[in-house]
Amino acid sequence: MSLRNISIGDITEKVVVSIGGSILIPGRNDGKYIGELAALLKELSSEVHISVVCGGGKTARYYAQTGSEVGGTMYQQDLFGISATRMNAGLLDLALGYGNYPDIPETVEEAASRCEEGGIVVMGGTEPGHTTDGVASMLAKELKADRIVNATSVDAVYSDDPRTVPGAERYSEITINRLEELVYGEHGASKSGIFDPLGVEIAKNHKIDIFMVHGRDLKDLRSAILGRGIKGTVVRSH
Ligand code: UTP
Repeated sequence: MSLRNISIGDITEKVVVSIGGSILIPGRNDGKYIGELAALLKELSSEVHISVVCGGGKTARYYAQTGSEVGGTMYQQDLFGISATRMNAGLLDLALGYGNYPDIPETVEEAASRCEEGGIVVMGGTEPGHTTDGVASMLAKELKADRIVNATSVDAVYSDDPRTVPGAERYSEITINRLEELVYGEHGASKSGIFDPLGVEIAKNHKIDIFMVHGRDLKDLRSAILGRGIKGTVVRSH
C-alpha cells in the first residue's frame, strides 16, 4: 500500500519533526543515514501522523557567510538559508520515494493542506527572520500537533553549554518556562542554539511538548516520535 493511501483519519496523534541540517548533511554517511531515517519515518507513519521540517546545515552557513562577504544583507542571507533547507527537504522527500523536489511546500498552510492527502510531508524554511525550528512550531500549531520532535546534534538540553561548562546539568525533563529561560539566556540575549525562541513561544502558547533528541540516534528518535521515554530531554508545555 502506498503511504499516500494511509488515511490520517485512522491515526490520532500528530508529530512534527524538526531535523537539523547538521544531522542530515554533516558529510558522514549522509545518504545512508537519510535512507535509514526515511525507512524509520515510513514505518512509524502507520502509528502516528508525521511531518518533517528540515534545517539547512553547512550549506546554509556557507551561502550566508559567502553572501555576507559579497555584501548581502541579513535578508538576502536568510533567503540563501531557506534555499538550503528546501534542498535538504528535497533529499529526505526523495528518500521517502516521493521525488517532489523542487515542489516543496513554501508555507506551513501549504504543508498542512498536503498532510490531508496522507503520507509524510517534508518542508524546509518559509520566509526570512526565523529558523526551521520556528517553522516546525508554526506547522505544529497549524496541524494542532501533539508534539514536536527536535532532532538535533546535541543529545539533551543542558543548563549550560557542556562543551565549555564541565559541570553543566543535563535535563531529562523540564518545563517550557525553563526552556524559555535557557533560550533567552542572561539579559535577554538569545541562545537560539537549543531551539528558536520564536518556536519556544509558539509551543508554550499552544501547549505543544518538545522532545529533544540526537537525530543520528535513530533508537531515541523512534521513541521520541512515539512519545515514549527518551534519553534526551522532554520539554513539557502543559
Ligand atoms: P536552519 O533552521 O537550519 O537554521 O536555517 P540554524 O538553526 O542556523 O541551523 P541548524 O539548526 O544549526 O542546522 C538556516 C538559515 O536559513 C534561514 C536563517 O538564516 C537560518 O539561520 N531561514 C531558515 C530563514 O530565514 N527562514 C526560515 O523559515 C528558515
